[in-house]
Amino acid sequence: MAPQNIHVFLAGSGLIGSALLTKINAQRERLLAEEGIALKVAGIVNTKKMVLGEHLGTLSGWKEELNTRGQKADLAQFVAGMKAMRLPNAVFVDCTASEEIPALYNTILAERIAIVTPNKKGLSSNFKFYKNLKLLASQNHTRFLYETTVGAGLPVLSTIRDFMLCGDRVEKISAIVSGTLSYIFNSFEGNTTLSKAVREAQKLGYTEPDPRNDLNGMDAARKLVIVARECALPMECADVEIEQLIPQGRKKETVKEFLKTLERYDAQFEAKKQRAIARGAVLRFVAEIENGKAKMFLKEVASNHPFAGLRGSDNIFSFTTDHYHETPLIVRGKGAGAEVTSAGVFSDIFKAVRL
Ligand SMILES: NC(=O)c1ccc[n+]([C@@H]2O[C@H](COP(=O)([O-])OP(=O)(O)OC[C@H]3O[C@@H](n4cnc5c(N)ncnc54)[C@H](OP(=O)(O)O)[C@@H]3O)[C@@H](O)[C@H]2O)c1
Repeated sequence: MAPQNIHVFLAGSGLIGSALLTKINAQRERLLAEEGIALKVAGIVNTKKMVLGEHLGTLSGWKEELNTRGQKADLAQFVAGMKAMRLPNAVFVDCTASEEIPALYNTILAERIAIVTPNKKGLSSNFKFYKNLKLLASQNHTRFLYETTVGAGLPVLSTIRDFMLCGDRVEKISAIVSGTLSYIFNSFEGNTTLSKAVREAQKLGYTEPDPRNDLNGMDAARKLVIVARECALPMECADVEIEQLIPQGRKKETVKEFLKTLERYDAQFEAKKQRAIARGAVLRFVAEIENGKAKMFLKEVASNHPFAGLRGSDNIFSFTTDHYHETPLIVRGKGAGAEVTSAGVFSDIFKAVRL
């Protein structure tokens, strides 16, 4: 029997994109032999170069094609080329953090090409745009999957989708959605000061190049909006109430200066930590959705609470629904990183096609 083809068109060959290519390369022979599925990369584009072709070959082949024969990147041409190829089971995978690429999603979905992405930008931009993409996907019987935008490889959005499908009302979601803020507060214990925890997170590569972009909660707010929308709440990023951990308005300082300034807040945070310890609790930066409202704030959680036991940059999501009322359903695990995120994207690619 002839194998069933899946054709991947990849935008972004950075951390996640290249981990995905490595995964595809490692699994392609097994998939062909055991499942009769030929997983092919038919196009790659980054900010500099692009390459399109049904037979791009193996991983080294793709890199070489891109570097040696790749043309100057042009997104409109890439999308036009992808459409013109008319390949069956085509999936456009956006592994960028670009705002420019989500603006092309509508024309891609209109061509009945499925989209898979870990990119939060389109999904957390204005609600009308988001709603229109969902509508286009449904009208064109095409899949638009973005599980990895929240909790990386963790089954967060698919869990909510399952609640919604069977009419299980979501009463409350409590979560730690930022791997960076999770790491900072998980390590803010003993003699560690807040500024030291932030420096450590930065050194380990958990933070954005400028840690203020994590501390201001904006990236986490985007995730919370995507979660809320999955629960059918028409939420915008501006609707999320965010407790600012440190006063804003320090944008003029360099990152180095900012990290030094942060030490000024150490005593204040140490006092909060000690107050929590005296009450048998720890501090966590928690996100909550309840009664149609979303907020993120520093919360004391009891030492035996599931949120207290987190390690490293783990994420955790606690769902209270009609069915999971007495004991909420908990999803917990590694919430960032190339391995788990690319595995989640890989899995979405298979869900996006009809074999
Ligand atoms: N890292 C994680 O643990 C994680 C977890 C969950 C979700 N995500 C999401 O996954 C996405 C990718 O993250 P990453 O860590 O792989 O980022 P990255 O290493 O910075 O790679 C981004 C890639 O996108 C390309 N790119 C950017 N703008 C583009 C444009 N307009 N047109 C074409 N290509 C463009 C870049 O091209 P160049 O190579 O030419 O610069 C680069 O190859 C982001 O949206 C991120 O939020 C990441």
